[in-house]
Amino acid sequence: MDPQATGNVADVLQRTAARFREAGVDAPRLDAELLLMETLGWSREDLYRNPEGELQESHAERFESLVSRRVRGEPVAYITGSQEFWSLDLRVTPHVLIPRPETEHLVETVLDFLASRPDPCRVLEVGTGSGAIAVCLAKESARAEVWATDVSAPALDVARENARRHGVERRIHWLRGDLLAPVRGLPGCFDVLVSNPPYVPNGEIPRLQRDVRDWEPALALDGGADGMDFYRRIVRDGVRHVRQGGLLAVEVGAEQGDDVSRLFRAHGELRRVRVRPDYAGLPRVVTAERVQGV
Ligand SMILES: C[S@@+](CC[C@H](N)C(=O)[O-])C[C@H]1O[C@@H](n2cnc3c(N)ncnc32)[C@H](O)[C@@H]1O
Repeated sequence: MDPQATGNVADVLQRTAARFREAGVDAPRLDAELLLMETLGWSREDLYRNPEGELQESHAERFESLVSRRVRGEPVAYITGSQEFWSLDLRVTPHVLIPRPETEHLVETVLDFLASRPDPCRVLEVGTGSGAIAVCLAKESARAEVWATDVSAPALDVARENARRHGVERRIHWLRGDLLAPVRGLPGCFDVLVSNPPYVPNGEIPRLQRDVRDWEPALALDGGADGMDFYRRIVRDGVRHVRQGGLLAVEVGAEQGDDVSRLFRAHGELRRVRVRPDYAGLPRVVTAERVQGV
């Protein structure tokens, strides 16, 4: 057994955090705690209440195997198989992007809009991944019926599992296919079209943080030469699926607020284009309403 993982909880956490720091892990102490919680089946409170608790040999071995995966760069969410998003515990696998806190702004924007609409509300999510957005919207808005698409079959399996886990599977329809192809027969049908599409310019992918570049699915990241491919396609093929007065809402990269707004403004049937910043003050969500024949 590796001596790194023996001793009491406080010592093991301290040594593991130091090891992570040396390996260039972003949040060394937090990740050490999350992996120890996973190993012991404990809450964070349990960790703080039992700093003197000695690790059993079997726990120490298991912890060491998780720690060495993290040292090699694997994100904690893939190691533990779960990620919290909007206070929901979501299952994640390497087939799906790990849901980011920034995406909660997109969920919030759509929920605000849904609150102002008459029943029932039909929402289309394009590129659902883990189902984070679709599941949250169905969970938070009892009036929402959601159609969610993804080109990746294993991602849709994860999304389905998350819907079951949170009791909303009856209000989400999962559709596999290229962007809007699965809803081709449903024009003018949706109150909201929402998407957090792949938006990283492909020349920037080699410069992403190692944990993202080497572990998260390229399919979820690559937005084409300028990162704008999916926005262009969503505007070109998606607006016709939105009802008169309905909302188009997308997450954008911090540098993309102006380009995406311009794209929305250039479409003859979109108006009231708005950019919503995240908590860091960076552009994060762009929205517009559909108006026919303006
Ligand atoms: C940035 S991830 C967003 C995942 C999730 N909605 C979230 O916010 O955490 C983009 C998603 O788009 C999917 N995707 C990529 N290309 C696609 C395409 N051509 N058609 C449909 N989905 C696609 C990927 O599989 C991935 O799940």
